[in-house]
Order: sequence, then C-alpha cells, then structure tokens
Amino acid sequence: MPSLLLLAGDGIGPEVMAATERVIHFFNKRGAGFELQSGLVGGTAVDNEGAPISEATLAKAMAADAILFGAVGGPQYDGLSYDMRPEAGLLRLRKHFDLFANIRPAICYPALADSSSLKREVVEGLDIIILRELTGGVYFGEPKTIEELGNGQKRAIDTQVYDTYEIDRIGRAAFDLARTRRNHVTSMEKRNVMKTGVLWREVMEETHKDGYEDVTLDHMLADAGAMQLVRNPKQFDVIVCDNLFGDMLSDIAAQLTGSLGMLPSASLGAVDSTTGRRRALYEPVHGSAPDIAGKGIANPIAMIASFGMALQYSFGMVAEAKALDAAIAETLAEGLRTADIAAPGDEAVGTTEMTDAILGNLEMS
Ligand code: NAI
Ligand code: MG
Repeated sequence: MPSLLLLAGDGIGPEVMAATERVIHFFNKRGAGFELQSGLVGGTAVDNEGAPISEATLAKAMAADAILFGAVGGPQYDGLSYDMRPEAGLLRLRKHFDLFANIRPAICYPALADSSSLKREVVEGLDIIILRELTGGVYFGEPKTIEELGNGQKRAIDTQVYDTYEIDRIGRAAFDLARTRRNHVTSMEKRNVMKTGVLWREVMEETHKDGYEDVTLDHMLADAGAMQLVRNPKQFDVIVCDNLFGDMLSDIAAQLTGSLGMLPSASLGAVDSTTGRRRALYEPVHGSAPDIAGKGIANPIAMIASFGMALQYSFGMVAEAKALDAAIAETLAEGLRTADIAAPGDEAVGTTEMTDAILGNLEMS
C-alpha cells in the first residue's frame, strides 16, 4: 500500500493539510489505498514534544513512501535558539533524506493570467519547472565565517563548493524530468566569473552525453536567464541551476504565476538501493501565514497541488495527477477565488468552499 506521512505544522499548515486530506480520501474512495500517518513538526512540535521534529516522527518519515509537509513558523517562535526554531524541523528532514532536487513548477492557469506581474499574453498557459540544487553550494560551503580584521573592519566569507557528483545527480534529475514533459533542459550558471559555473557546465554536458542525448540541453548565464524569465518565460521547459541561483530564479518564476497560495513544490532525494524508492517531501512554497491563520480563508491549492506532485513523482499516478490539476483549473475557470487571488471587488470564498469545489470537479472527472 502506498503510504504518506502528513506533517501539517503551524499556522495555516493544518488548515491546508485538512483540505488536502479530503482530496486524498477522494482518491482512496476510488481505490488508491493511501495509508496515512501524521506527526508534529515546527513550533507545534516544540510546544508538545520539545523539539521541532522528534526522533519518533523522523522514524515515521523513514517508513513512509512520501512526506506531505504543510508549513512551519510563527512570531511566537522567533526568539527560540537556532536548533529549536520551527524551520530546523524542515532542515533536518532535508538533510536526513538528502533531498537534493527541489522541483518548483511555475504554472499560470489561464483564469489567473491577469493577476500575474506580467502581461496576459506573456504568461497565459505557462508551464515551466525550476529545478534547484538544494543541498550544496554557497549556503553550505565551508569556510563560512565573519572574521574580525582588527582595524575596525570585518570580513564575511561564504564559500561556493560543488563536486562532480552533486552536479551530475541534479543533471540526471533534470533530464529525467524533461523526458516527462517537453524534453528541453536549460542549465543556468555564471561560468564567465565562477569556477563552480565552469564545472557545472562541463558536468552537465558529460551527463547529457551519458544516455540523455534525446533531451535538448541549452546553457544560459544565470543573469541573462533571469531577464529571459520575465521577458519570454514560455521559451523554457526545465531550468536547472545551483542552490543560490535557484532560490532567486524560483522566486522570480513565482511572481509570473500570481499568488504564493498557488505554488506547490517537491524535494526529491536519491533512490534508496534497498527499497528502490526515491525519498520525497512535498510542500507548498508559502509559509505558515500567521496573519490569516485560524480564519478559514487560506488558499488550499498550493498544498493540494503538492499532493498532486506526489501522485506523479512518488506514485506514478500520472492520470490521477492530471485529473486533479484539471479539477483545480476548472474550479478557477468557474470563478472561485480565495482572498489572496481575488481581484478587487470579487467575492472571495474560504478554504472549505474552495476545496468543496475542487472535489466536486474531481467527482465529475
Ligand atoms: P508566508 O508565505 O507565510 O506569507 C506571506 C503572505 O502571503 C502573507 O500575507 C500570507 O497571508 C500570504 N499567504 C501565504 N500563503 C497563503 C495561502 N495559502 N493562502 C492565502 N494567503 C497566503 O510568508 P511570511 O509571512 O514571510 O512567513 C510567515 C512564517 O512562515 C514565518 O514564521 C516564516 O519563517 C515561515 N515560513 C515557513 C516556510 C515553510 O514552512 N517552508 C516557508 C516560508 C516562510
Ligand atoms: Mg527564497
């Protein structure tokens, strides 16, 4: 039986997770047979279990085929020490499972094309993926320090490090992903000024030659890529880049699509050689939105679409993932809007109504 661990977290996390559970139950009624477990993470876990993720919850995560993660954090936890911060729960999961491949789709539903920062014709029907390397690069490289220079000056040092194997595995993930789509990968780096950029491109080319020549591979300098992303985003299919550039480029891509409440993501690890399963965590891009928590108005689409990604990437349920996506598109086309995606003057619905409508459209599929 396919198994999922639900970690709802804090703030609106439990609200959007509850909506998603209804969607999972729908698929179970149709015979999917998902076994669900749940656990605490984030501030809620600190309050109840004394750590942002407990060993018991990590063990459940080990046993599950995939993890659905809501969101963590909130102003009441801002004073906690580094290890006790709610985000430490998420970082621990990422590290524990070596979730090196972060998939962030940027999809612009035609019904929402006018809420993009760009013109309708530039973004309508947009469907691209930013694949960000998540466990290496300048966020983790050593040395990472601030030194006193003794003359009233300080020196801050971050180090960008990439090894061949790290570039190779994210490259393979990009080519595999492109094969399920439009077969086109654009690799972005800054080889003109960075050694990691030189190696990045070299390894991408070698990996490409190693059985992926059916996929088109292009290269672009990351700054030019940023420009192209807002100028003509539909030229891309899968963009693959390092941790830092991926952070920037995926936030730019997010702006192309409208609201934060719409954006799902997946973080994939290596394939476990004993079980043959790829470690995976699925989460919305947004945070715990303390400003709207408890009001029943959170947009559940990012979390529901994150489950849609799990259907596709962890369980190979491609038809089900498509049906779910179509139900979301149809619901938006019918004009339903939560407050975050409503135009001024539009009447907004709450989390429950939005979920009801998506389920209604799924019933008819
Ligand atoms: P946020 O994403 O929680 O909220 C930003 C804005 O977008 C808010 O106005 C919020 O109401 C709105 N928003 C976000 N998701 C929405 C949804 N589904 N429906 C409707 N509106 C939505 O980011 P913010 O405010 O910077 O951070 C709040 C807390 O979340 C902080 O404690 C932060 O550390 C944490 N956080 C956690 C993340 C995670 O769990 N992966 C990611 C980002 C932030
Ligand atoms: Mg970011």
